[in-house]
Formats: sequence, C-alpha cells, structure tokens
Amino acid sequence: MLTASIQETLEAGRHIVDAALDRLIPPVDQQPESIHRAMRHSVFAGGKRLRPILCLEAARMIAGSLPAGIEELGSALEMLHTYSLIHDDLPALDNDDLRRGHPTCHVVYGEATAILAGDALQTFAYEVLAKLRCPAEAKVRIIEEIARATGTVEGMIGGQVMDLEAERKKPDGKTLEFIHRYKTGALITASLVTGGLYAGCGHAELQRLRDFGRSVGLAFQIIDDVLDVTQSSAQLGKTAGKDQAVEKATYPALFGLEASIKQADMLVASG
Ligand code: IPE
Ligand code: IPE
Ligand code: MG
Ligand code: MG
Ligand code: MG
Repeated sequence: MLTASIQETLEAGRHIVDAALDRLIPPVDQQPESIHRAMRHSVFAGGKRLRPILCLEAARMIAGSLPAGIEELGSALEMLHTYSLIHDDLPALDNDDLRRGHPTCHVVYGEATAILAGDALQTFAYEVLAKLRCPAEAKVRIIEEIARATGTVEGMIGGQVMDLEAERKKPDGKTLEFIHRYKTGALITASLVTGGLYAGCGHAELQRLRDFGRSVGLAFQIIDDVLDVTQSSAQLGKTAGKDQAVEKATYPALFGLEASIKQADMLVASG
C-alpha cells in the first residue's frame, strides 16, 4: 500500500516536472537549432527527476499542498543536474558514451555543442529562478542556496574536481565522504531546502530539511557507487563498471559492498 503511494508520488512528480521542462526549454526549431536539440536530447532522455521531486515534496510538506509555480523551481534544479551529467560524461571527465539509456550528448552532437549545451542549461536555470513566483526575499535565498550548492566550496563543482583528482589515488574515508557530499549531496540538499524556502518555511524546519538532505544525499552517491558494481549497463542506462576501470574513489572500493550498503541504510534511517 505504502509502496504504491510512493510510486504514485514519484510518477506524478515526474509528470509535473517533465511538462514544465518541455514548456520552459526553447523548442528545437528555435535558432540556433543545434543547441536546443542537444539540450532537449539530454533533458528528455529519461531520468528519475529525483531532485525536483524532493523539492516538490519538501514544499508540499511545509505548505500542505503544492505551491503554485513550484514546478519551475524543480525544473531549474533538473536543468542544473542535467548540465552536470552532460559535463560529467565528457571525454575530459568520465568519458562516458551512455546516459539515461541513450548515447551521451557529446557522442550525438560533438564535444563543442555538448559543452555549450551544459553551459546553456546552467544559465537558463538561473533565468528560470529569477522569474520564480515567490516573495523576492525567498527568491534571493533560493538562488544563493543553489549557486553555493553547485559551486566550488563544499558544492558540486568542488566535488567533481576532488573526484577527478582522486582517481587512482585511493583517498582516505574522510576525503571520500567529502567528494560524495559535495559532488552529489550538496544539490540534493539544496533541492529540499529550496523547496522549503519556496513554501515559506521557518528556521527550524529548514534545518531539518538540511539535515535530512545531508544524510540522503550521501546515501544516494554511496548507492550510485554500489549500483556501478552490481548492475548491468542495460539496467542502469549508463556504463556499468566504469568506476573500477579508472580506480575512482568509491565506497565499495574502499570499504567493500556489504559495508557500503550498510552505511547507506544507516544514513537513510538516521535521516
Ligand atoms: C546520477 O544521478 C548522477 C549522480 C549524481 C549520482 P541520478 O541517478 O539522479 O540520474 P538520473 O537523473 O536519474 O539520470
Ligand atoms: C556524478 O557522479 C556527479 C555529478 C554529475 C555532479 P558519477 O560520475 O558517479 O555519476 P555517474 O555514475 O556517471 O552517473
Ligand atoms: Mg563523475
Ligand atoms: Mg560519471
Ligand atoms: Mg557513478
């Protein structure tokens, strides 16, 4: 019963966010066509829409129902996430040719267009954020929260840099935890926190959303590492076994599969 209702929430959230993304992102016949095709290729290749759904559900929890326009905040988060995936897959980073069950952006459109499509999704996300339908003070706090979470200091880009620099180096547990918290956990936390801010939540509720994001954000990347080892490329829609090939800093590599899964379970239970 409970499972069915979670399933329904995920599906309904995906539907709301997909419709908003389709409405917001310029159509493929908008000049220059190639960049809009590339942006849409990666955004609509599939994807769980986890970050926007967390944002929507945080806002629903605070406000009692979905606040009007929240799907635009969710869409901006998904644009930023998709930009990070396009760049993560580039030859200079993880060099992946499969994403969300489709050839990666640079494989289809070439590296230059893929770099620009990532850039474009990032700048467009901030245009969408600037137009959010919430009080100006909340809007500024939302923009700051997201910019920080995707930036270099304890944010997504900082985590990506540490991830690349840790290849073939077997970092210690503390460094590994930072990589995961920054490259993945930070945007997941920001999704929950900004959903709360949009819905007008107070300081104590905001802190609870932040604490929850911190736990599930880290757990999410631990499980992403576990799945890289335990699932096939067909199941994942991205290249399996990739982390081992370049000796990425992962939880299974440092602690083993069983301890990694236990750690993720503990984090989720504590959130
Ligand atoms: C993949 O994120 C990249 C990570 C940060 C682990 P997701 O597993 O949320 O990927 P999509 O959005 O569903 O494709
Ligand atoms: C990706 O981490 C993190 C970001 C895109 C910010 P991974 O490199 O582990 O993600 P996948 O496994 O390619 O999806
Ligand atoms: Mg990576
Ligand atoms: Mg990768
Ligand atoms: Mg991974």
